[in-house]
Amino acid sequence: MKVELAIIGGTGFYHPEIIENTEELSLKTPYGDTHLLVGTYMNTPVAFLSRHGMKHGVPPHRVNYRANISALKDLGVKRVLATTAVGSLRKKLSPGTMVITDQFIDFTKGRDGTFYEGEDSEGVVHTDFSEPYCGQLRKYLIKSIAARGIDYASKGTYICTEGPRYETPAEIKAFALWGADVVGMTGVPEATLAREAGLCYANLSLITNYAAGISPHILTHREVVEMMEKKINLLREIILEVLVALPEARECNCWKKEDYSLGQ
Ligand code: HPA
Repeated sequence: MKVELAIIGGTGFYHPEIIENTEELSLKTPYGDTHLLVGTYMNTPVAFLSRHGMKHGVPPHRVNYRANISALKDLGVKRVLATTAVGSLRKKLSPGTMVITDQFIDFTKGRDGTFYEGEDSEGVVHTDFSEPYCGQLRKYLIKSIAARGIDYASKGTYICTEGPRYETPAEIKAFALWGADVVGMTGVPEATLAREAGLCYANLSLITNYAAGISPHILTHREVVEMMEKKINLLREIILEVLVALPEARECNCWKKEDYSLGQ
């Protein structure tokens, strides 16, 4: 089966449900093994990868981002839609709102964030991130969400923290001054590795809570999961609708590697 489309499900999105004829695959990569499902939606092959494992057993800092992206690439995937649960740094972006992020700030600390480890492996490559997410995927996401009359923001800056702890109110205040709108723990290096691999990648964030210091109460994983449970069917529908609506031609720069890599 030629699988060119993939979903990476974040917190609360552990199973694709409406994908048919699913088959579980274990794929070996130079970075480690990855498990995913492949199946069809409206006769279109789709891969589904649960970022935290099917039972949320893998915390954000231990996700094997390189193995995941490498496995998708090996499978023949060209486009990836990812979901992330996020906290909101803006009063006007309330829990339940979807955000099609257009920028990110990387505040992670100890992750393997590149496929290019220097001379012994793949050489030295500096990848352009002027447009961090695929413009074509974002356009289709916005169209599908806008048509539903639900609360959404067509752009927003995602700051990725190392986790697994939540942030302090002082950190959130600082991040807001930097221009961040939402905060999560998994968006990077997934997005950067996807670009290095030449895959189109977009992120659909669901705001599950106000961030620390903005929320009137302490943060709990339960609050995050409860909001995800409320919106999971909608998220699934949007993501799959977008994947099958996409035209074959990739009208973006995500795959034009030689244009932006400096090489050795
Ligand atoms: N901070 C970091 N990650 C998150 C949050 C948050 O408030 N909510 C959901 N994921």
